[in-house]
Amino acid sequence: MESVYIGGKTPLYGEVTIQGSKNAALPIMAAALLIPGISVLKNCPRIADVEYMCRILTHIGCRVCWRGNNLEIDASCLNTGHLPEEYVTRMRSSVMLMGPLLGRLGEVELSHPGGCVIGDRPIDIHLKALRCLGACCEDDGIVLRARALGMCAATIALDFPSVGATENVIMAAVAAEGTTCLKNAAAEPEIKWLCAFLRSAGAGIRKEGDEALLIEGGRPLHSCCFEIPADRIVTGTYLCACLAAGGKVFLAGQPKGENDALQEIALRMGARLRETDKGLIVERTGKLLSPGLVETGSYPGFPTDLQSPLLAALSVARGESVLRETIFNGRFRVVEELNRMGAEIRVRGNAAYVPGGRSLKGTGVSAQELRGGAALVAAGLCAEGETLVANRHYIDRGYEDICRDMRSLGAECW
Ligand code: EPZ
Repeated sequence: MESVYIGGKTPLYGEVTIQGSKNAALPIMAAALLIPGISVLKNCPRIADVEYMCRILTHIGCRVCWRGNNLEIDASCLNTGHLPEEYVTRMRSSVMLMGPLLGRLGEVELSHPGGCVIGDRPIDIHLKALRCLGACCEDDGIVLRARALGMCAATIALDFPSVGATENVIMAAVAAEGTTCLKNAAAEPEIKWLCAFLRSAGAGIRKEGDEALLIEGGRPLHSCCFEIPADRIVTGTYLCACLAAGGKVFLAGQPKGENDALQEIALRMGARLRETDKGLIVERTGKLLSPGLVETGSYPGFPTDLQSPLLAALSVARGESVLRETIFNGRFRVVEELNRMGAEIRVRGNAAYVPGGRSLKGTGVSAQELRGGAALVAAGLCAEGETLVANRHYIDRGYEDICRDMRSLGAECW
């Protein structure tokens, strides 16, 4: 079914086990190309973007197979750096194949990566950093070509702590001769998980102070087995759904401390939270209050990926809220759809002004991208009447089965 059906307003009660992390799994799948052996990724999410990445890896010579939620990647017979346009153009993560392919084969060619339309998504920081390591990168605006006959370590300072560029540099530097110092690196948990995966394969990576990484290149890498952590953005999405709809839920699996910024906002909104080693208990049974001003930012700031799901909760909170988006310049596409449900949100520049206190009405809406689509499901759970969210394929890019998860919390969702 290409739509998500939500039966209407219902408080959420129950427990859900959070799926593996999309944004940890994708760079780790790319990093598996550096290993001339087998990588077993346990708890890998079965989502569209992971499937696209599997097809790219298979196309370039890897053997890829699923055993339940365990994904086995054998990159021993990797044979080309020429990536298939059909899948590359579907997701932004394709760009992070550049680092490992330059490291393993010395060449990579790909169409400009696709991905969610949430604003400009240049790759200048990626290319500048790869050139520092000795790669020759050409970009004619349609096809990206890069070659490196042996990369050499460098000291690199990113102009912005780009998550993808940090991941690309780490993977390229693992194969470069010498020790690379990467400054102003992104600090998102996915960076930590990528480094943990590479260390489990024999790489030498350590932190230098708060914002620099030292990557010791040229160490031999071997087969390994690694558990993908639970998805902090899926956890945060369901936390926002519980804020909006009310109730009490247990979100099992999230690594402690990975959603502190959202949890602080949720407390300001009147929620009660208890974080254990097993997961997060969220309770919102009283009034939902406006948190005032919220700004997205690089980690440990409030994540841009939870901006749209939080908008759904702000729409029904008492009092006006302002949500300022500082990472992407086109990430308010969900506002038009939320306003069809009665949210009356106004966008000026990079800020959304949410009057709050609205009773949302169920209706037909359309997902325009991944996190906005999930936000519309959360809105449907606190709306009077039925909601149908079209373009479900956007949501399926990052959520294994959002309807299954919402049903386990007592919602009528199909
Ligand atoms: C990653 O995207 C995530 N995707 C995004 O999640 C997330 O929103 C983003 O990081 C920020 O946290 C994956 O991990 C697969 P960036 P990425 O490079 O790496 C600018 C989701 O919903 N920039 O940190 O593409 C860029 O335009 C997705 O799961 C440059 O200017 O994000 C943006 O304004 C959406 N030049 C900012 O940096 C560059 O070369 C942050 O981008 C690279 C980035």
